[in-house]
Amino acid sequence: MSERTPDVLNKVYEFEAADDARRAGVYPYFKPFDYNDGPEAVIDGERVTMFGSNNYLGLTTHPRVREAAVSAIGTFGTSMTGSRFVNGSMKLHGEFEEKIADFLGKESALVFTTGYQVNLAVGSALLRDENCVAVVDRSVHASIYDGVRLGQSAGGRMVRFRHNSAASLDRALSKLKGEQAALVMTDGVFSAEGDIAKLDELMGAVQKRGARLFVDDAHALGVIGPGGRGTAHHFGLEDDVDLIGGTFSKSLASVGGYLVGERKVLDYIRHFAPSFMFAASGSPSSIAAAMAAFDVMQEETWRMDKLRENYTYMREELEGAGFELGATESAVIPIYVRDDALTLQFWSTLLKDHAVYTNPFISPGVLPRNSLLRTSYMATHERKHLDRGLEALRSVGKGLGVI
Ligand SMILES: Cc1ncc(COP(=O)(O)O)c(C=O)c1O
Repeated sequence: MSERTPDVLNKVYEFEAADDARRAGVYPYFKPFDYNDGPEAVIDGERVTMFGSNNYLGLTTHPRVREAAVSAIGTFGTSMTGSRFVNGSMKLHGEFEEKIADFLGKESALVFTTGYQVNLAVGSALLRDENCVAVVDRSVHASIYDGVRLGQSAGGRMVRFRHNSAASLDRALSKLKGEQAALVMTDGVFSAEGDIAKLDELMGAVQKRGARLFVDDAHALGVIGPGGRGTAHHFGLEDDVDLIGGTFSKSLASVGGYLVGERKVLDYIRHFAPSFMFAASGSPSSIAAAMAAFDVMQEETWRMDKLRENYTYMREELEGAGFELGATESAVIPIYVRDDALTLQFWSTLLKDHAVYTNPFISPGVLPRNSLLRTSYMATHERKHLDRGLEALRSVGKGLGVI
């Protein structure tokens, strides 16, 4: 038997899972869309019902949002070709920062190129010494873990607490040494599970310890809280949450991210976070589109009402059909299948035989026992879209023994 010589590419040649899935015709990723209009999309010339997008308010095709992007290109060109730190800031970025801070009731805001970079920035800038500990809900988004890893490489530590458990957070905080300072980190609405962080319960432990709290509201802005202000406002705790981050890539129909909090904290982050300082800034068209969507979100409040009506309808119907949905209370509705192969089969049958697009979450992204189909909903879904999808989910779910 010949042994391979050490080579960084050995793992590459040994990676078979994607090719196996392609051969079996169930590879679910990187599917190119011909168009994606919102509630429906076109894949390989075929119209599909879209149950797998984060376009929660349906604004990616809104005339004002399109027009803002086009007009920004006409006025400012296509890119700033530099980072915020140097030649990449425009008045547009600053104007949007003021609007976001004002909307969320915080002193200051920063606009980032992506939401992912927001979380890299928080971890890398705030955890960069030995006495700092990130105390992280186990189910947070990968970008929070990556940010924490950057902090760890500069001396910070990490401990995790049980998903959405105030008792577990309290235990984790009480085990810290006296000289250690804690940053508690959680998603506001969890990206796979769709449940809402119980900030009202977690806050007791945070305050008892004198810790700081960061909430990633990527899936909460425009979805929960008064006027779509997100999780902290949902609980009336906006003055107690130190930092709120989020993205423009979901309700705001663009690409980019934001962070709000105390002016002094954000000023520190903008001088110590490489993901903010050394990456090109959001293009004028992305910022202009997000700003237009932000205005539309506040003016066309019916969208949030319709979104809530739609996801409530789907949750009740899916539960009634016998699917296991967990504790979702948002526009993200997971359907637990708890088996990787069955999840892929469910996903591919829905798409091939019923033209319904969903997102499969399988290992290693989640534990195999937690594999699920993630469905998500929009304000622009009409009842006919929801009912068509429901019929398909019920029929395939029954056929495969999921219900
Ligand atoms: C909870 C959460 N945080 C952060 C991000 C990253 O945001 P973006 O897509 O803007 O990089 C996502 C997006 O997938 C997310 O779901």
